[in-house]
Amino acid sequence: MAGIIGYVGSKQAGPIILEALRRLEYRGYDSTGLAVGSAKAFHVRRAAGKLRNLQAAVRMDPVRGTYGIGHASWTAAQASSASPDGPAPAAPRSLAVVLCGKPTNMADLRSRYSVALPADPESSDADVLTRLVVSQREDGAPLEEAVQRATAEVGGSCAFAAIAEDEPGKVVVARRGLSVLIGLGKREHFIATDVRAILNRSRDMIQLEDGDIAVVTARGVRVMDSEGLPVSRMVDHVRWDPLMAERSGYKHFMVKEIFEQPRAIRETALGRLDEETGEVVLDELGVTSRELRDIGHLNMIGCGSSWHSALTAKAMIERLARVHVEVEYGSEFRYSEPLIDRKVLTLVLSQSGETPDSVACLKLAHARGSKTVAVCNSEESTIAKTARGGIYTQAGPELAALSTKSFTSQLVALYLFAMHLGQVRGKLPPELSKQCARDLLELPSLVESALELTLSCERLARHVAHGSKFLYLGRGLHFPIALEGARKLQELAHISAEGCAGGEMRHGPKALIDADMFVVVIATVDDKHRLSRLRYEKTVAQIGEVAARQGRVICVTNQDDDRLRENAHEIIRIPSTSELLQPIVTIVPLQLLAYHVAALRGYDIDQPRDLGKSVTGG
Ligand code: F6R
Repeated sequence: MAGIIGYVGSKQAGPIILEALRRLEYRGYDSTGLAVGSAKAFHVRRAAGKLRNLQAAVRMDPVRGTYGIGHASWTAAQASSASPDGPAPAAPRSLAVVLCGKPTNMADLRSRYSVALPADPESSDADVLTRLVVSQREDGAPLEEAVQRATAEVGGSCAFAAIAEDEPGKVVVARRGLSVLIGLGKREHFIATDVRAILNRSRDMIQLEDGDIAVVTARGVRVMDSEGLPVSRMVDHVRWDPLMAERSGYKHFMVKEIFEQPRAIRETALGRLDEETGEVVLDELGVTSRELRDIGHLNMIGCGSSWHSALTAKAMIERLARVHVEVEYGSEFRYSEPLIDRKVLTLVLSQSGETPDSVACLKLAHARGSKTVAVCNSEESTIAKTARGGIYTQAGPELAALSTKSFTSQLVALYLFAMHLGQVRGKLPPELSKQCARDLLELPSLVESALELTLSCERLARHVAHGSKFLYLGRGLHFPIALEGARKLQELAHISAEGCAGGEMRHGPKALIDADMFVVVIATVDDKHRLSRLRYEKTVAQIGEVAARQGRVICVTNQDDDRLRENAHEIIRIPSTSELLQPIVTIVPLQLLAYHVAALRGYDIDQPRDLGKSVTGG
């Protein structure tokens, strides 16, 4: 799912929409379209594939008009030359709809409206929606009323916008689950499902609430709730700097974002940590100290990398606050019967704050009486707005599809949360708090040193880029880092890579190890921890086992150990920190390795195939 855009004002809408679509590209898509109108004309263009194809179509056949809508979205992998989720030409040309998300009841709508909607299984969801809106206008209803009636019929999470030739200068947008923002300008307004698309145009935004419909003209914005009653919505000022959303000389957004990690970490900790005492203050948490003392256990929910960061943070929270933590996949939890109540604190982790599975889990936890906290990179997101409180990461916009700086910023936010919880529950003594604070303050410079490994990672990538089998091993907090490292390689370089808990290797994956397999082993140790030393020794022994099977070991370590030199083909040496923060350093060379391998293999780095930034739940 990429998103939808709208514009209405006095400028030409086409270039504004195309530019906003470019800013949405990072979310992944395989088709685009736009519809633009003026008092005299109404144009629809769409294209399969990359945005440049739509730009070419518009160059060949220009569109003129001061209001319009656009989309970038996924079609089925076998996309034909049509663009199903775009403005639908099969409907009367006088009306166009763009859709973001996946309504759940389209098949049902196709059959229920079999007279008005031809039951054509190939027609796209946007086609169906267009005809649905058209059918609701047959009694002469204005566009907003037709959209409102249509919205009532649509199930699942989506957002859509419509324009009509006979109502020039008006864009109607409906929010059904997904985020919709309206950027305010001077006698012009911008609509987007992602703040980054219009951040360069406006920083004063109205966020629609679920079920809202907005009528947007150059003169103003009128919002109605799902009943059609007028409502007023707050205007938020977005603090992100639009320049942060540019590549600033880096070849790809992803590498820029990897290199932004020291800053993102610093800013996530900024203002929350008393450097002298180590006390942590989380102003927006929305859960009082008294409530935190009362909590029975914690639930942490996320998808993809956010799930990996939840699993890493489980150890931080259990060690610093001595509270039991359950970690759940969003896509599992939402279809389960969770044992939660008001004594359970639910943390929903989501970089985007829009992943539908995670949104559904948040609502479910809330309905069961659990206190909910969002860990998000976007304060304007659905998850941030729906949860009772939040811990917002300060990673800035993450435009590459793969999460890097948002992952490490989540870990920092959760480390702060673990400290805070330990402090209010009396489990983290002042001396330990101070030590944790010192470790955290030192972290950005350690990550900076890890970034200096980029040339070694590039060299290593040249040796391994031809590989087709990778196994990543890690123990303790480094098990989820092994998963995350493997995931980066899968997503970006399209190589089969598996992450595995070190001790599990002998229970299956060992059977795959041979001379063709690269085994990335995380072998770090915190000398101050008995268990960490024990884990390290186990890992060293395991490296011997891999080498005995001719597996090619790439060792990521903070040690200078002859035993590693003996058995590893390659050693990546990283700076040391406390065991709880070490994952934030360890992941850096794994991100860089995946980046360089993918670049050498010639893959699309910022928009890898089959990866949307916000993934629609199945
Ligand atoms: C991995 C990646 C995805 C996301 C996942 C959840 O690099 O980006 O796996 O982590 O789709 O997204 P959020 O955190 O936005 O809910």
